[in-house]
Amino acid sequence: MVPRIAALLLSGVALLQNVQAQTVPVTDLVGTWSSKSNSTLTGDGFYDPVNEKFTEPKHTGISYSFTADGFYESAYYRAIANPVSPKCPKGIIQWQHGSFEKLANGSLVLKPIKVDGRQLYSDPCQYKNAIYTRYNTTDHFKQYTVAMDGYRKTVQRLDLYGQDGAPLMPLYLAYSPPKMLPTTTLNPLVTETAKAGKVKRGDMPLSYGTQLNRNTKVMADQWWWFGVFLTASGGVLYLFF
Ligand SMILES: *[C@@H]1O[C@H](CO)[C@@H](O)[C@H](O)[C@H]1NC(C)=O
Ligand SMILES: *[C@@H]1O[C@H](CO)[C@@H](O)[C@H](O)[C@H]1NC(C)=O
Ligand SMILES: *[C@@H]1O[C@H](CO)[C@@H](O)[C@H](O)[C@H]1NC(C)=O
Repeated sequence: MVPRIAALLLSGVALLQNVQAQTVPVTDLVGTWSSKSNSTLTGDGFYDPVNEKFTEPKHTGISYSFTADGFYESAYYRAIANPVSPKCPKGIIQWQHGSFEKLANGSLVLKPIKVDGRQLYSDPCQYKNAIYTRYNTTDHFKQYTVAMDGYRKTVQRLDLYGQDGAPLMPLYLAYSPPKMLPTTTLNPLVTETAKAGKVKRGDMPLSYGTQLNRNTKVMADQWWWFGVFLTASGGVLYLFF
């Protein structure tokens, strides 16, 4: 009996070690990182989940935030040049959050909360309105490096390398601790695929203050959010104070 228990205990230890061997804790990633223009930044200034609303940054760019306890948030704002008709640039805004892991081989896996991601897609010559949908994609980075930037010696620089080994644009530390929305699921009540919302467009590829029609669903979400604010821990509070 005793050897059996010992064996069980041992296998439990082995299991634990196995799990630990696969994911590596990270501290060097903690913070909000943004590409050179430093105007696309994660957080409530980019995406407002209560009103289902994006705020278009001044310049295109990307931003990632990471926490020490394994959460991430990403913000993308990209213009897609159209070489055939230069007057028809397309624009894309994407927001996601979820959890991430650093694997033993140094690669990163970013797993979004699938119901929470959002995309605003604008193709002015194709569609009169920008198209607002749910969006999710798992990010895999082969490796990353954090170092002092060669030029601006006072700022930390993060390089993320895609699956194929190609680097993304360099990211610079904008905030530490990171500026993020709550890391919990924001839209658990919505189960159908996101409706394509019709939104008004401004002069830029994407419009300012795009907004979905409010309906009962959104109201329900707002009440849920109210609950989040009441129950959330200190991690949320520093977002607002
Ligand atoms: C995630 O994205 C895939 C591919 O676009 C889609 O088929 C799926 O429905 C999405 N999941 C959710 C929960 O929105
Ligand atoms: C790292 O390990 C993961 C999980 O075993 C694997 O899927 C991935 O391809 C590996 N990446 C590299 C760059 O070897
Ligand atoms: C980016 O912008 C934020 C907020 O405006 C500022 O605090 C930070 O210092 C900027 N970072 C860089 C590298 O310019």
